[in-house]
Amino acid sequence: MATIRLGDKAPDFTADSSMGTINLYDYLGDSWGILFSHPADFTPVCTTELGTASKFKDEFDKRNVKMLALSVDGAASHAEWIKDINEVQNTTVNFPIIADEDKKVSYLYDMIHPNADNNLTVRSVFIIAPDKSVKLTLTYPASTGRNFYELLRVIDSLQLTANHKVATPANWEHGKDVVVSPAISTADAKEMFSKGVTEVKPYLRMTPDPTA
Ligand code: BEZ
Repeated sequence: MATIRLGDKAPDFTADSSMGTINLYDYLGDSWGILFSHPADFTPVCTTELGTASKFKDEFDKRNVKMLALSVDGAASHAEWIKDINEVQNTTVNFPIIADEDKKVSYLYDMIHPNADNNLTVRSVFIIAPDKSVKLTLTYPASTGRNFYELLRVIDSLQLTANHKVATPANWEHGKDVVVSPAISTADAKEMFSKGVTEVKPYLRMTPDPTA
């Protein structure tokens, strides 16, 4: 499978998971989705990530984002591992983990980077919009656990910029000022954004977060 790029249609698949057979498109329905891979079951960093992810599920739900993890072990192994995750992370894993024993989905999504490891997936993240287009890809090495606050932050940006003619500046978080889209003239921006527009430079115009 070629690299999946932003704007591409997320490849559909049907696979076994910790919650039974899952078809990606049926599972997502009209929601946003986040698909994230884990190198293997019973590994320490992944254990912390999945525990953290399950504690963040309410926040993903609030944003209408369905969570879907993947690890290249079977469903029986996932079931045993989930018991450990729940115990040591004091949580309940509350979303499916794809059981990608044959690595079908891992190869489909280019999650195996042979120069990093021939057999295990890297830590990939795909954020998928309701129209099934890929809006964000991230790749972390096995040695670095992901920051789930950053994943929520980028979802806030993606959802805001999908609905308003703005972009979000460095380190932006929900509620902070945003950048007016370069395609909009300052005169039009002043009509469009009732909270006001500050022209810092002709190409850098700020406006309060329209959703805050
Ligand atoms: C981990 O999840 O801890 C891990 C997995 C594979 C390689 C290194 C660390």
